[in-house]
Amino acid sequence: METSWGREMRLYETDDFYPLGVLFKACGLEVKPEEKPEGIVKMWRVDDEDGELIAAATAQVLNGIYVAKHLAVTEACRGKYIGKKLLNLIEEELIGRGAKEMWLAGKVPEYYIKFGWETVPAEEAPPFSKCLVCKQFNNGCYPSIMRKRV
Ligand SMILES: CC(C)(COP(=O)(O)OP(=O)(O)OC[C@H]1O[C@@H](n2cnc3c(N)ncnc32)[C@H](O)[C@@H]1OP(=O)(O)O)[C@@H](O)C(=O)NCCC(=O)NCCS
Repeated sequence: METSWGREMRLYETDDFYPLGVLFKACGLEVKPEEKPEGIVKMWRVDDEDGELIAAATAQVLNGIYVAKHLAVTEACRGKYIGKKLLNLIEEELIGRGAKEMWLAGKVPEYYIKFGWETVPAEEAPPFSKCLVCKQFNNGCYPSIMRKRV
């Protein structure tokens, strides 16, 4: 899959997690670039006209739980709806795989609320994220647990 998008950006699927992991980490996500999480079913990257990675996203299916796992856009390229496009792709992928509901642990709930996601008490969430069992959860680190019903 490759989408020609705008004049100077290229969005395409990739199998190489490492550079995406570096970007996610630089954007503040809890990621070890050398450790691709299990259950990742699709990854996308967006390159600028020089082939530099400017945004990325991943979709995960973990023990039957459908997860919008990673999404990040480099600071200089934000506000151009790249994140929205990538989130759409994640959701389409998960729905295509049978999702009736999708989950994420995110630090910007206001962003996802724009796209129909809702914040859910952690006790109601299935075990899809290490955040849920991390000792820093709600103790210095405050990700929102979010769900979108299809
Ligand atoms: C969150 C993030 C992915 C947004 O990407 P982006 O490409 O700049 O966002 P978009 O251009 O698609 O924004 C779409 C809409 O959301 C709004 N929006 C963008 N960032 C937002 C935020 N942090 N909170 C609330 N709304 C936000 C935009 O203003 C726009 O609104 P509009 O439709 O009314 O014009 C990006 O800021 C990012 O990578 N942040 C750091 C990593 C991160 O937090 N990732 C999320 C994982 S928890």
